[in-house]
Amino acid sequence: MKDLIQAFNHHSPTRLVFGAGSTGQAGALVAGLGLSSVLLVTGTGATKRSAGYAKLSAGLSAAGVSVRVFDRVTPDPTAELVSEAAAIIRDEKLEGVVAYGGGSPIDCAKSAALSAANGVSILEYLYGRAQPVHPALPIVAVPTTAGTGSELSNAAVTTDAAANRKMGYSADSFFPRIAILDPENHVSMPRGVTAATGMDALTHVVESYLSLGANPIADAINLMCVSMIGGALPAAVSDGTDLGARSAMALASASAGIAFSQTGLGMVHGFAHPVGARHGVAHGDANAIILPYVLAALVRDAAPRMRDLAAALGACAPDTEATAGALALVDAVVGLKETLGIAPSLTAAGITARDAPAILADALIYRARPRSPRAFSDAELGTLLDAIIAGDLKAAAL
Ligand SMILES: [Fe+2]
Repeated sequence: MKDLIQAFNHHSPTRLVFGAGSTGQAGALVAGLGLSSVLLVTGTGATKRSAGYAKLSAGLSAAGVSVRVFDRVTPDPTAELVSEAAAIIRDEKLEGVVAYGGGSPIDCAKSAALSAANGVSILEYLYGRAQPVHPALPIVAVPTTAGTGSELSNAAVTTDAAANRKMGYSADSFFPRIAILDPENHVSMPRGVTAATGMDALTHVVESYLSLGANPIADAINLMCVSMIGGALPAAVSDGTDLGARSAMALASASAGIAFSQTGLGMVHGFAHPVGARHGVAHGDANAIILPYVLAALVRDAAPRMRDLAAALGACAPDTEATAGALALVDAVVGLKETLGIAPSLTAAGITARDAPAILADALIYRARPRSPRAFSDAELGTLLDAIIAGDLKAAAL
């Protein structure tokens, strides 16, 4: 007799428009939502000077959509920045947001769309002091990196600068109405950003698959994604013009957003958020550094599913004994990090043992901690963090 499949919900309402050149459809797609005015949210740097941005902007105007540009988004956007964007939306009575860029512009646009719809600071929602009454204004995402998955996810991360914290918030209305996934927009992504954001995507897949909130549909997505990332990430890093590798990474990273919206993430992100907020380590780099250590600590409790991931990566045969397969996953991630030139430990990223207490305090209250496949005690997470800082993989296998 087959095992009973446990009850679960699956919700993924975003229309995905995928393909090289699909940015050209943006104007018609946004107008098709009935939007006549939008805030176009993007970064301060090269993204706004890119051909993709010009194509998007021209397409919106040609479709009769009035565009107000907000191009002040910096990495790890703060609640103040979100408030600025939200104030423009409200003052100018804009009807929706279009985000062009990496996770930072997309998340900033999402939070601003919710904040503007309710006239409430995003901080109130992050800290659970209020609940949104109105859904976010319609969101359209056009990603230029392959990592965050925000274009197909229900989550956005905001930095509370006063508290030195990065905090995620999830809402059904954070699922974009439309995600336009055009690998041509990824070709100009620098090598280091490609590596770091790609490792963020891999971390999403691994943490989602190992989460206690996993379900069969998310499993299928995650196993597809890990296989695609294993093949495409080194290729995209070594030749950024490889449109095949770019398209695989674009699709895998976005699809991971569908999966983790159902399952949540895990303690790699639990550590990566304070490392990013307190020490400015880019999100993808922080995840990439931390991932093998947390995996080493999960072998004890999650070996069969870690073996499945290793097999999908091509790091072991599907019938490999579970613990051996799980260890093969750890080795494969370590090898991938080395290939991509990622720092081996948090010490190598400039973090010392003195920084541990503040990072740990934040990690202990990470919202997805209860879904970790291992119920870490506070002391175990402290020992694990020490191992991540020191670069001691053996000590992480606690
Ligand atoms: Fe992430």
